[in-house]
Amino acid sequence: ADLAAKGKLDGKRVFIRADLNVPQDDQGNITEDTRIRASVPGIRLALDAGAAVMVTSHLGRPTEGTLTPADSLAVVAERLSELLGKPVRLVADWVDGVSVAPGEVVLLENCRVNKGEKKDDDALARKMAALCDVYVNDAFGTAHRAEATTHGIARYAPVACAGPLLAAELDALGRALSAPKRPLVAIVAGSKVSTKLTILKSLADKVDQLIVGGGIANTFMLAKGLPIGKSLAEPDLLNEARAIIEVMEKRGAAVPIPTDVVCAKTFAADAPAETKSADAVAADDLILDIGPVTSERLAQLLKAAGTIVWNGPVGVFEFDAFSHGTETLARAIAASPAFSIAGGGDTLAAIAKYGIADQVGYISTGGGAFLEFLEGKALPAVAILEERAAQGA
Ligand code: 3PG
Repeated sequence: ADLAAKGKLDGKRVFIRADLNVPQDDQGNITEDTRIRASVPGIRLALDAGAAVMVTSHLGRPTEGTLTPADSLAVVAERLSELLGKPVRLVADWVDGVSVAPGEVVLLENCRVNKGEKKDDDALARKMAALCDVYVNDAFGTAHRAEATTHGIARYAPVACAGPLLAAELDALGRALSAPKRPLVAIVAGSKVSTKLTILKSLADKVDQLIVGGGIANTFMLAKGLPIGKSLAEPDLLNEARAIIEVMEKRGAAVPIPTDVVCAKTFAADAPAETKSADAVAADDLILDIGPVTSERLAQLLKAAGTIVWNGPVGVFEFDAFSHGTETLARAIAASPAFSIAGGGDTLAAIAKYGIADQVGYISTGGGAFLEFLEGKALPAVAILEERAAQGA
C-alpha cells in the first residue's frame, strides 16, 4: 500500500523515514542533493493533505549515543526548507515525544544517534511508533537495512505504508527485472568480481546479454584465456566467471567479452593510451577501457534492447583518454528506445558527466539497496511493509 492510497491524512501525525544521507565536503556542505529532492514529493503529499509531518533519516554512520556537529542533519534541514519553501524545524531529542502541528514539518535529528537504531531494538521501535498515526517509509536507499526506523517501527505503527519514492523505485526495478521487455541487457562493471559476484550470478539466470566492464571484464577475459598484462583482476574467481558464461550460453544468452581494449603503462590521467586487440595485451599493460570496436558492438546491443539495467562504468571514465567506452555506452543507453534503469555512485557520476539523466528511464537513489535488489535479495524494509499489508494495515 502506498501513501496516496491511505486516505485521509488530515490532522494525522505522519512519520516519514526518508534517506537524506547525502554526500558532504570537508566543511559539511552538501555536494549533491538528489536524495533530498527525491524526498520532497512524499513530504509535500502529506503536508498538502493536512498532516503534522515528522521526517527523519540517518546521515553517515555516527556513534550511537553522541551527536557531533558532523552528524547533524542541520544542513539537510536548511536545504529541505529551501526546496519546500517553508521552515523546517530541526528537533534534537525526539524519541520521547515531538510537538508538531498539522501543516507543519519537522526534521528529527539523525536517527542513527539513538541507541538501538542500528540493531532494530524493539523497545526503541515501539517508542517511535507511538509518535505517529501513520508510518511512511520513503527511504529506498536504506531499504536493505533492518533498523528501528526502517523496520521495527513498521511493525508497531498504527498504519505503515510506502511513500511515493519507495513505490516508484520498486515499480521501476520490478519493471526491469520481473517481467522485462526483451532483450534484457545488463551492464555490470566495477573493479572487482568478488563484490558483484552475487549480482552476476543472479542476473546470469535472467538477462539476455550480460555486459561486464572494468576489473570484472578483465577477470572474464582471463577466464577466456586472453592476456591482461598487469590489469586488475581476480584470478581466484576464474571458475566462477567460467560458470557464469556457461549458464548464460546454455540459455542462449551471452557475456560479450571485449575484443579490443585501451591500455596504458601506468594508472594516470596523462598516461599515453594505446588501443589494442584483446589478444595482444602486453605483460606490462594496464587495461583501462574497452576499445572502439567493442564499444560500437555493445552500443548496438543496447540500442536493440527492450530493457537495460546499468550498474558501473566500463572504463576509467574520470580520465579523458579512457572515457570513450563509458561515454559510448552512456550515449547508446540515452538513444535506445529501451526502458533503462541505472544505479550506483559511479554510474550516477557518469550520467551527470554526459548529461543524459533525462534520457535514462529511471535513476535509482539506492546504492547498496539497488545492488541488493539486483542480487535478488529481499529488502527488509519492504518485506515488513508487505507483511503489514497482508495483515490489512
Ligand atoms: C547509502 O548511502 O547507501 C544508504 O544511505 C545506506 O547507508 P549505510 O550503508 O550507512 O546503511
